Amino acid sequence: MNVLLIGGGGREHAMAWKIAQSSLLDELFISPGNPGSQRHGRAVDLDLNDHKTLRAFLLEKRIRIVVVGPEGPLVDGLHDRIADDPQLAGKVTVIGPRKEAAQLEGSKDFAKEFMFRHNIPTAAHRTFVKGQLAEAVEHLERMNPPYVIKADGLAAGKGVVITSDRKEAAATVKAMLEGKAHGAAGERVVIEQFLNGVELSAFLITDGTAFKMLPSAKDYKRIGAGDTGPNTGGMGAVSPVPFADRDLMQKVHDRIAAPTVRGLQKDGIPYSGFIFMGLMVVNSEPYVIEYNVRMGDPETQAVLPRLRSDLLDLFEGIATGTLSERHVDVDDRTAVTIVLASEGYPDKFEKGNTIVGLEQVREAYVFQAGTAVKGDQLVTNGGRVMAVTAFGKDLEQAVLAAYRSAGLISYEGKYMRTDIGQDLLKMPVPKGAHQPW
Ligand code: AMP
Ligand code: GLY
Repeated sequence: MNVLLIGGGGREHAMAWKIAQSSLLDELFISPGNPGSQRHGRAVDLDLNDHKTLRAFLLEKRIRIVVVGPEGPLVDGLHDRIADDPQLAGKVTVIGPRKEAAQLEGSKDFAKEFMFRHNIPTAAHRTFVKGQLAEAVEHLERMNPPYVIKADGLAAGKGVVITSDRKEAAATVKAMLEGKAHGAAGERVVIEQFLNGVELSAFLITDGTAFKMLPSAKDYKRIGAGDTGPNTGGMGAVSPVPFADRDLMQKVHDRIAAPTVRGLQKDGIPYSGFIFMGLMVVNSEPYVIEYNVRMGDPETQAVLPRLRSDLLDLFEGIATGTLSERHVDVDDRTAVTIVLASEGYPDKFEKGNTIVGLEQVREAYVFQAGTAVKGDQLVTNGGRVMAVTAFGKDLEQAVLAAYRSAGLISYEGKYMRTDIGQDLLKMPVPKGAHQPW
């Protein structure tokens, strides 16, 4: 079958690499892709808002599956435009939900109400809209710090402020409600209880009825070693996560994943694709901090190499409503992903620096993200330049292998965290760890 993959980051390079291994694949198209993902398929540059051209492309290339990597096009209704087009209906399956379900990621308030309705554990919250500043400030006065304040809409990961300073909290709420911070995304504000625990990224894939858990991962969001400095898109990932033992993952399955898919069904909301459950584990109890309607980046770069099953077979299961009959088979080795970034990221950074050493990497996968080709050279073209993923029989070995390979690649302004996985190596490993999820 022919597949169109949308996206140009490291996550999509990993997806392209995985899809290209499928015996079910005839041809893979990637829009816009990057120099890395392009090696696994044909690069095209589609304007997703130009529906007529997109339709013509899907029909001409006989695309059966459209895989949407990032959330933006889903929140914008790409799935709806394809599924509701009479010429495409029944011919093309979109991996990624319709606009309504994409609100699980696109609106914090929608997600909180959904979790409340379906008894899914999450931090207690209240939502305030424009004109309710006084109520919001009163609410802060009744709360204990730290205060967690979230802009309702998509804010590229920058819509969350956590502070113990009540004045700063009140000022943040004011700026958001007045539309001065994050524009319309902030005109509705969620204030929630602070959860003190460890974070875990869990993933499922669903056709709206059945679901399969995918391997879980830990992401490293802060720019600096020891979880310091500003938040980024993610600086590294580890899968599996030693503390995510069988007991914990059973709770995630029973209390979060299953009620989430059931809740969508009860609410009459169709869903096809991935659900990323951003969890906080507090005293071995999982709570949802956020949902994403896509896979994580860089978690995908650690999770997909561990997936032994054919990803396209799972997508076909979604297309035909037979996901329950498909299998998710997982490699029980540990994968560690190190993100190589540009000095200065997540703020200002240089582009266009020549990258060398890729061909020396033998014991790891390199998934490109912010790269470009200039003449006959590969150059940096983004904040997160690439991700290096290596396997090990355990976490320690995987960390060593990933850093050995990451060290072979060089460019001016190369920056990486040097402590990926170290926190987990220090944690006591519970019995039953290394479960194959
Ligand atoms: P989000 O964009 O909702 O994932 O939030 C960004 C980050 O803020 C998360 O990765 C957590 O580290 C932190 N965070 C969000 N909500 C809470 C909460 N209720 N308690 C503690 N930390 C939180
Ligand atoms: N790594 C976090 C995310 O993809 O949102």
